[in-house]
Amino acid sequence: MKKSNKFYLNSILILLLILTPDILFSRDKNWFLHETPEQKAQRLKWWTRARFGMFIHWGTYSLGARNEWVKYREHIPDREYSKYFKHFNPDMYDPAQWAKLARYAGMKYVVITAKHHEGFCLWDTRYTDYKVTNTPYGKDLLKPFVEAFRKEGLRVGFYYSLLDWHHPEYPIDKYHPMFINKEYRERENQRRDMKKYARYIRNQLRELLTQFGEIDLLFLDYSFPGKYGKGRKEWESMKILKLVRTLQPQIIINDRLDLLDVPGGWDFRTPEQFMPRQWVTYRGKRVPWETCQTISGYWGYYRDGSSWKSVQQLIIMLIETVSKGGNLLLNVGPTARGTFDPWTVERLRGIGNWMKFHSRSIYGCTRAPREFKKPENCLLTYNPDTRRLYVHVLVWPSTGKLYLEGFAGKVEYAQLLNDASEIKFTEPKHWNVLNEKVKPETLILKLPIQKPPVDIPVIELFLKR
Ligand code: GLC
Repeated sequence: MKKSNKFYLNSILILLLILTPDILFSRDKNWFLHETPEQKAQRLKWWTRARFGMFIHWGTYSLGARNEWVKYREHIPDREYSKYFKHFNPDMYDPAQWAKLARYAGMKYVVITAKHHEGFCLWDTRYTDYKVTNTPYGKDLLKPFVEAFRKEGLRVGFYYSLLDWHHPEYPIDKYHPMFINKEYRERENQRRDMKKYARYIRNQLRELLTQFGEIDLLFLDYSFPGKYGKGRKEWESMKILKLVRTLQPQIIINDRLDLLDVPGGWDFRTPEQFMPRQWVTYRGKRVPWETCQTISGYWGYYRDGSSWKSVQQLIIMLIETVSKGGNLLLNVGPTARGTFDPWTVERLRGIGNWMKFHSRSIYGCTRAPREFKKPENCLLTYNPDTRRLYVHVLVWPSTGKLYLEGFAGKVEYAQLLNDASEIKFTEPKHWNVLNEKVKPETLILKLPIQKPPVDIPVIELFLKR
C-alpha cells in the first residue's frame, strides 16, 4: 500500500477512535423532542404515584408579610424594598423540621422558590449580589434544605421565576413594579438588554442543576407573551429547555415556558388555585397535571390573611385532585424567622393524621374506571395495580346504607380503611327491595350509623379479579 494511503487510513482510524465514544455515549441532545409516551410515563412514574407535594414560597417578601407580590402591588422602588434584604435573617431556620412536617403530612416531594419574582436568590449564586449570602443571615439556604428533605425521603424540586423585578437588564413589562412610571420605564428599556437577562436565567439554572445533586422537578414561572409581555422569544425558551433537559434528563418540567406546542416543551399542566372539573386535557387528550394551591389563600407568608382552609377542606382537596387523576402541590409560606406559623403546622399535622390511615387511597391511585358511578357526597379513587377502589364518604349517611350503582357483581370484599373492619354489602336481585327503588347492578353497603372517628372515612373495595 502506498505511503500516502497508509497515512490517510491511519488518520481516519485515529479520528474514529476519538469520536466513537462521544457518538456512542453522548445522549442525543434533542432526545426529548422524540420521547415516546411510554418513555415519558416511565420518567414521570414516581411523580404520578406520589400524588402529593409541598410548595414553599420564601424570600425577602416574607418580612413584608403581605404575600410575594407586595413589591408589584404597592409599586415599591428598589431603594425602599431593599429594607427587607437588609433585615433578612431567618435565625430559626431549620429545614430538618420543615422536612419532618412535610413527611408527616404525607408529602412525597417538595418544590422551593430558589428565586421568586423579586429576584432574591436563596443560594450563593455567582451572577448577582442580590442573594442570601449578602444578607445578615449570610449563608446558603438551599444546600441544607435539599439535604434535609432528601434525608426524610422526599424528592426535591426548584421553583425559578423567569420574571425578575430586581435585575438591571430585565426589561420593564406590564407585571414589573415600575411599569406605571412611563418615563422611567421608557428610559430604562432603552438601555436594558433582554438577551443579557436571558443569559442570566441560563447561568442561574446551570448553577441550580449542577450544584445540588439530582433535582427531580423544575417549576418555571411564568410566561405572558404579547404587548408589554414576555414569552418564548424573550426568555429564549428553547435554549432553557435544551439546557435543563441536557443537564438533568430525568427532571420533570412544568408548562410555563410558553412551549405548549413543542414536543418535550412541558411535562405536566399546572392549574393554579382552582379545582379542575375533570382530568385536565390538552388538545383533547388527558395529560399529567398538578394543581398548586395555598393553605392560607396566599403563596408568601401573609400575617393578616384570613382565608385559611380547614384540615377537612384540604383533605377533600387532595382526594378530589387524585379522583381526577392529578397531583396536589400544597403551598406553605414560612415566616422571616424561618418557621412555619402555627396555623400551617396545625393543618399539616391534621392532614398527616388522616394520611396515616388513608394514604393507600392516595398514593398510586387515580381516577376510577368509568363503569363505577360516583355516589352522591362521595369521591372515588382507584389503584390499578392492586385493583382496589376507594369510596371517600364526605357526608356519612344516617341511614346505615350507601348505594353504589354499577358496582354489583364486581366487589369481592369491603372494609373501612381506618380500622380494616369489614363492611357487609348486598346486591338486590330485583328492582324493588323493601319498597326501595334500587337499580339493578347496585351494590348496597351496610354502614355503621356512627361515623368513624376520622375526618373523611374511606371504604376500601377489593374488586374481583
Ligand atoms: C403565580 C403567582 C406566583 C406564584 C405562582 C405559583 O404565578 O404570580 O407568585 O409563585 O403562581 O404557581
